[in-house]
Amino acid sequence: MTLSETRLIDKPTIKKDFPFLDGTIFLDSAATSQMPVPVCESMSEHYRLGASNVHRGVYDWSVRATDKFECTRRKVAAFIGAQDERECIFTGGTTDALNLLAQTWGETNITAHDTVVVTSMEHHSNLLPWTQLAERKGANLIWWEVTDEGELDLDQLPEILAAQPKLVALTWVSNVLGTINPVEKLIPQLKEHGATVVLDGAQAVPHMPCDVTKLGADFLAFSAHKMLGPTGIGVLWGRAELLEEMPPCRFGGSMILSVRRDRVRWAEIPHKFEGGTPNISGVHGLGAAIDYLNSIGMDKVRKHEVELVTYAMEQLGQLDGLKVFGPQDPARRSGVISFEFRGIHPHDLATIIGREGVCARAGHHCCQPLMKNLGRQGTTRASFYIYNTREDVDVLVGALKKAGEVFKDVIL
Ligand code: ALA
Repeated sequence: MTLSETRLIDKPTIKKDFPFLDGTIFLDSAATSQMPVPVCESMSEHYRLGASNVHRGVYDWSVRATDKFECTRRKVAAFIGAQDERECIFTGGTTDALNLLAQTWGETNITAHDTVVVTSMEHHSNLLPWTQLAERKGANLIWWEVTDEGELDLDQLPEILAAQPKLVALTWVSNVLGTINPVEKLIPQLKEHGATVVLDGAQAVPHMPCDVTKLGADFLAFSAHKMLGPTGIGVLWGRAELLEEMPPCRFGGSMILSVRRDRVRWAEIPHKFEGGTPNISGVHGLGAAIDYLNSIGMDKVRKHEVELVTYAMEQLGQLDGLKVFGPQDPARRSGVISFEFRGIHPHDLATIIGREGVCARAGHHCCQPLMKNLGRQGTTRASFYIYNTREDVDVLVGALKKAGEVFKDVIL
């Protein structure tokens, strides 16, 4: 395979759309991705052409902002395969979406008689809202364990189904292990046993085609800033019948039909969950990010990452003393690779490779229970996206070799 075959975006386009990447090997897109120029422009336009609020004014600027805002809701729905754009609620991000869900659906549906399942590979965002809820309600909590290979332990599935959980909180893709959970197979079984399934899509939606209707999940949360968009904006998707039953939990402007001293009528979904002035330019940015990804095609995004991860696993595998966590088969993982190298502390490693221009994350990645399972305090993590190339992998490997040199006489 030649280099050009693995390049998703050609060099001139990267230079034009991501000029700041020149000389920097950005391998931390699982934490936050870069924004291409068209996304930045779409956001700044909101202010440059005259800012206004949405769903309130009747003058041209406000109509323009509202149209663009609601157009993005339709784009989001189409991007994730939702049947109805009213099922897409704009939130501050994945964490915000999952907290909102716990405060509304969770508070009204979970009781002391119920069982809640969380996996030990959850990011704290899809863990703590549910463990805290279970604790508050006195509900039974089951941890779905991860095997030594970094996959969900499917041998535990019969136990989980037998418990007839009311809620299963499941990440689609692990932000540490890169594991892609077999959600298409698991969701129907969990639902047959009465569970409501909450999918954390933060590391999945930006990287592979998504069809919530086919998946049959109940809720999905994801963030714009991991998919070429800005921070502070994300989406909670939920099946309309569930959202309609859920009470609002943030009260204020825009989320009501009428307010009298003795009676309040809430707005229809999604607006009843979007109290207050939303992140308007953020929504515009999300819309532009979706346009950008659609112009490439999510199938191609996925293919590019599989090729890149295959190459990276081969190259990293040639370094003595390097261990990659999670599934070894690139087809079963996303563009996230966590590793340890010769016992060098992840922060030392990230600092040294950082000096070579490689931006990678080190630490527990907001997954402390998983770190405990791995018997590590942290890992070093490289994560890839559409702008990364094989040359970036080569620079990473070269930087790791230098780190190995620095520590060669140190007994770790
Ligand atoms: N959840 C983000 C990460 O994994 C911040 O780095």
